[in-house]
Amino acid sequence: MIEWCMKFLELMNKTGLVAAHRGARSIAPENTLSALTKSIGKCDFIEIDVGLSRDGAVIVMHDDTLQRTTNVAQIDSFRDKKPYRVCDFNIDELSKLDYGSWFDANSGRKEPLLTLKRALEFIKENNMFINVEIKDMSNCFEDKMVVGAVAKEIEDTGAQERVLLSSFRHEYLREAKKILFNVPTAALFEGNAQDNLLEYLKDLEVEAYHVDDASADEKKVKMLREAGYAVGVYTINSAKRAKELFAMGVNYIFSDSLDKKLKKYAL
Ligand code: G3P
Ligand code: MG
Repeated sequence: MIEWCMKFLELMNKTGLVAAHRGARSIAPENTLSALTKSIGKCDFIEIDVGLSRDGAVIVMHDDTLQRTTNVAQIDSFRDKKPYRVCDFNIDELSKLDYGSWFDANSGRKEPLLTLKRALEFIKENNMFINVEIKDMSNCFEDKMVVGAVAKEIEDTGAQERVLLSSFRHEYLREAKKILFNVPTAALFEGNAQDNLLEYLKDLEVEAYHVDDASADEKKVKMLREAGYAVGVYTINSAKRAKELFAMGVNYIFSDSLDKKLKKYAL
């Protein structure tokens, strides 16, 4: 069992890594199988976001609502479901939506719903690694239910060795450690508001710290790396900034653009 989790732990402790943020989202609709497929050979791992349907299925989706990345607003029978919260739709309803045509209206290319189960199968089939970011679903579900549903998919697909779990809702990471103790976790932050950061991360039992670009600085990165944490920074699309961050010791960046120039600066 320990061997399994060591696979992602080994990867995340290297430096100069590029993660495909929501898949290759600059060239395909984010968080779809097409976006995952387009990132093959162009990244060190993929990052996706997941949430739960009303009936508890784990789906790949960034927003709390469906309007931006699906055709939900065009379907008359869903009009009474405004503002189209993901957690107000069951899996059968979600399966009827198109997740592709918003991205390029002229292409007319449709994309099916991507479930976490299918994403994990894809990762195994293609010998890849994935960071599963659990979106804050606390308005709709108990923490235990959310983490339990995600954990079940990871266990059922046998993908433990290929997954890093992260969340802005740190309670999920505590829950995850109780049931998936061999799967590494990362605390997501936006801003520098956390006091006693090292003590806080130790208490959370995470292996990594993920932060936004504006809040990543050399002193903090050095402190975290010396304390044994992996550091990831989102969202970086500039080769110049990638170079600076890798020089600071940042392990990985999350990028929309899988340009070779970003990798070139890996030390
Ligand atoms: O996990 C890194 C990054 O994806 C966090 O921001 O809003 O793109 O999920 P967001
Ligand atoms: Mg994300």
